[in-house]
Amino acid sequence: VPGPTSTDMARAFRSVRRDPLTFLGQVQQRYGDLVSFPVPGAPALLVNDPDDVRHVLQTGARHWGKQTVQYAALGRVTGPGLLASAEPNWIEHRRLAAPAFHHERLAAVSDRVRSAADDGVREALTSSGPAVVDVASLMHRIGLDAVGRALFSADLGGHADDLLRASSAAAEIVVKLGRSILPTAEWAPTRTNLRLRAARRRLDTVTAQLMADRRARPCAPGDVPHGDDLLGLLLDSGLTDPEIRDELVTMVIAGHETVAASLTWTLMLLAEDQAAQDRLRAELAALPGPVSLLDHRDRIPWTRAVIDEALRLFPPAWVISRRSDRDDVVGGVDVPAGTLAIISPWLVHRRPDVWADPDEFRPQRFLESGAGRTAYLPFGQGPRLCIGRELALGEMAVVLGRLLATHHVGLPSGPSGWRRPAPEAQVAVHPRGGMPLTLTPLSGV
Ligand code: HEM
Repeated sequence: VPGPTSTDMARAFRSVRRDPLTFLGQVQQRYGDLVSFPVPGAPALLVNDPDDVRHVLQTGARHWGKQTVQYAALGRVTGPGLLASAEPNWIEHRRLAAPAFHHERLAAVSDRVRSAADDGVREALTSSGPAVVDVASLMHRIGLDAVGRALFSADLGGHADDLLRASSAAAEIVVKLGRSILPTAEWAPTRTNLRLRAARRRLDTVTAQLMADRRARPCAPGDVPHGDDLLGLLLDSGLTDPEIRDELVTMVIAGHETVAASLTWTLMLLAEDQAAQDRLRAELAALPGPVSLLDHRDRIPWTRAVIDEALRLFPPAWVISRRSDRDDVVGGVDVPAGTLAIISPWLVHRRPDVWADPDEFRPQRFLESGAGRTAYLPFGQGPRLCIGRELALGEMAVVLGRLLATHHVGLPSGPSGWRRPAPEAQVAVHPRGGMPLTLTPLSGV
């Protein structure tokens, strides 16, 4: 299998760390769809062909698990919660959590997500004229609030600053650990370990508080003992407190970073494309009632196409890793047990053989039948598909709907002076330095 040599990698060391997205793109362009990396131990392969991706994530998923550096690093914050768990007992946790994401449940919490969006917008946008706002940080707040209200029926408001700080510190450290060559012992008092411990302590305090508050809540006769949201399901499940803590932290981190990043990029794309923005606003205004978490499924095709296209161009989960537990064949090549597979939705979504003009924002392509669906995996694929997919898609529609119903989104310096912030590959892909956009109340446009 072709690929860079150790010397090439040593030379590229800095650029890999600074900008892994560009590095992966260059590697793929140079070596093709199956690329071998010279790492110590078992082989590491960049897998880019859609059929091979499907084999690793779907058809061969039983033998391609999550025993990877990426998930070990995440697990140091989340513990073996649903996302990082490499254990076969992951499926039991998935079954326990699943009802919290069912359609009926999402229908029941639509108004809470709407309120999270409305409150966030109201607090951030007090001026009656145009305001340049960092929508990345606004979307983080709204995303966190929405997770709290939708899944824990809790107002995380009092904890929001703490949680945002802890989860962004944790995310930064996870990325650092995931990229470091030498694993550091977890007990060693290194700066990274100390910061990680502090972030964990904050997350532990908030989740312990959530559990205690709910347990103290009186339960009416005939009610589900602890409530039918995710927090209630977990408390009634027989899981231990540390296990529940791991699932709550997982949902806080997986559930707000990704949605916030997707919304941020979507708003940028809509600010760049006024016609797409106007059409989305008109579609949402034509709904008979306020936009709900389920409307994206069949009632707002243009809005959904915009969201799908934004997730194609800026998939927050830019890398997915797996390790095989037995010998296998990938792309016609024999690979030994222990092989690491690196899959990048960022690259797969830009394949010119599947996506015409892959770098263009063209939502229309998602309205055309089946276009490119085989090479599209913003939420992963196979048994470990994102459990929050429907919630995320619904939440994006609701937040866009609420914000754009009252505000126009524009570029702060006009189209000619506009330069997109660089995408930075953290746990999710975020705009480096934030995303300042101009939000103008519609009455003032
Ligand atoms: C899994 C992406 C929103 C919770 C995943 C995976 C991807 C992903 C790619 C699969 C990872 C892998 O196979 O290695 C996204 C994106 C989102 C989003 C792009 C938003 C646009 C959410 C939300 C939640 C969530 C809102 C929960 C509140 C999870 C969990 C898993 C997961 C728990 C692990 C599922 C399992 O392995 O059983 N997500 N996600 N995600 N996601 Fe999401």
